Amino acid sequence: MTGKVRLWKCVVCGEVFPGVYPPETCAACGASFEMFVALDNVEEAPKTDFQGHIVVLGAGAAAISAVKAARASAPQAEITVIAEEPVLPTLPYFRPSISDYLSDPAILTKDSFWLQPAAWYQQNNITLRLQGEKIRAINPQARTVQVGASTVHYDKLVYALGAFNCAPPPVEPLLRGANSMTLRTLEDFKRLRTVVTAGGVKKALLMGGGILNLEVASELLSLGVGVTVLEVMPRMLPRQLDAAGSRALVRAMQAKGLVLHTGAQLEGVTMDGPRVKEVRVKVPEQPAPATIDADIFIVSCGVKSATDLAKSAGLAVNRGVVVDKRMATSDPNIFACGDCAEHLGLVIPSWNNAMTQGAVAGKALLGLDASFERQPTPILMDAFDVKVISVGDAGSALPNPTQYTTLERDEPQNSIFRKLFFVGGKLVGAIVIAPGEANVIHALTSAVAEGMPLGRAARLLLD
Ligand SMILES: Cc1cc2nc3c(=O)[nH]c(=O)nc-3n(C[C@H](O)[C@H](O)[C@H](O)COP(=O)(O)OP(=O)(O)OC[C@H]3O[C@@H](n4cnc5c(N)ncnc54)[C@H](O)[C@@H]3O)c2cc1C
Ligand SMILES: NC(=O)c1ccc[n+]([C@@H]2O[C@H](COP(=O)([O-])OP(=O)(O)OC[C@H]3O[C@@H](n4cnc5c(N)ncnc54)[C@H](O)[C@@H]3O)[C@@H](O)[C@H]2O)c1
Repeated sequence: MTGKVRLWKCVVCGEVFPGVYPPETCAACGASFEMFVALDNVEEAPKTDFQGHIVVLGAGAAAISAVKAARASAPQAEITVIAEEPVLPTLPYFRPSISDYLSDPAILTKDSFWLQPAAWYQQNNITLRLQGEKIRAINPQARTVQVGASTVHYDKLVYALGAFNCAPPPVEPLLRGANSMTLRTLEDFKRLRTVVTAGGVKKALLMGGGILNLEVASELLSLGVGVTVLEVMPRMLPRQLDAAGSRALVRAMQAKGLVLHTGAQLEGVTMDGPRVKEVRVKVPEQPAPATIDADIFIVSCGVKSATDLAKSAGLAVNRGVVVDKRMATSDPNIFACGDCAEHLGLVIPSWNNAMTQGAVAGKALLGLDASFERQPTPILMDAFDVKVISVGDAGSALPNPTQYTTLERDEPQNSIFRKLFFVGGKLVGAIVIAPGEANVIHALTSAVAEGMPLGRAARLLLD
């Protein structure tokens, strides 16, 4: 392939890829090639003569983004990445693509699965320590990290340990079964695929109706597994969809044979030896708790930042490790970013955020100007044979739905739902739930950014 190599940015998740052409799909979020814009005139990174040791804890999006930024501005720094995941992934990988492993284990053989090729770490003189060495403690006074039996000295530390799946107290007993699981790592998805493909899994019960479980539900249905989803909230994806959007999503789910209970409260768990046999659930439509059995139980009820090591080191910790706009923690030599960091009271567990914060941390730790600004990003879910798109404020930021003027197109017979949300006559958000390509996301994001007036925006209801 000949031609000028450019940088292509995914408008959905913000990930950037080099190439003559945009990639066919975004390895981070699965968006198709139409969702890329060329980034021309990218400024060259400013250079410093920093020669110290930068130690990066974690090997996810935030960590590797920090590594890239630091290396670009500090060619002479020593950089070490330390992380531990239950399986040994040979290299840091795109976490969002691991759900594809369920239907396509061959993704591991594709170059696009890995954040960077092995040669990149060698060429950039990055030391990777991913071989399951536990990070035991951070000593900010001595500027050391205890890793397994060894002590590693740092000049600057990046804390990018991400988050782990949490089970709220009522759901916690569900995780005690040998047939229960959460889904965060490649190892988790390998385990799920092994039990599903071994046969014997006829029914799965998924606790939590967030995007993670919905994508997994869709994959399981296509593998012939019967799926029940229990969601505690009265409607689906309440931060991304209004009530009508939720109904359209539920329609798409039920058309595939999925059983859904919203407003569901787990009341009890019955074990059969080491395995969970069934759950008792209070659902609004029935006076007595329903009993639901399954062969596997998957809990995806949100995430909790990995803060334990930071707390033990005496860093300021709230829901996440508290950082300022430069991603500096309460210790000036330690920077935190990604799912583990809390900025202005918010932990934002998304790919885009992890990358953006990582890039700020990698620059700021060198003393360079860098500052984090939250970028609202669209949501794209590909499940149940529809694309679910939510852009901007889709009717849930203001306290009362009547504060929005809306335009809606709802065609259940064609599985098409489109809705536009206006405040003060300007477009603030949109929902699209429909089969086909998701390239409308482009038009929607720019129209929302522009605050397109109602008269002109109405055409966005059409194809
Ligand atoms: C299946 C799935 C699909 C997703 N899809 C999307 C999507 O489409 N769009 C989107 O925006 N977001 C998505 N997300 C969320 C997104 O992947 C995360 O927000 C993002 O990966 C966070 O990156 P991070 O670097 O902050 O943390 P992580 O990726 O969690 O990385 C943390 C790193 O720290 C290491 N670590 C943690 N604790 C220790 C320890 N004690 N010792 C050593 N190492 C440790 C881990 O091994 C890991 O390398 C998805 C998540 C999952 C699980
Ligand atoms: N396309 C994407 O953006 C994407 C895809 C997959 C995963 N992710 C990210 O992965 C992480 C994990 O996903 P997730 O779906 O677990 O988190 P989530 O916070 O997005 O959704 C959790 C869901 O569980 C529900 N829930 C909470 N307590 C419950 C209870 N007691 N009983 C029943 N339901 C309960 C919540 O109401 C919510 O709907 C999140 O950070 C998510 O943003 C993002």
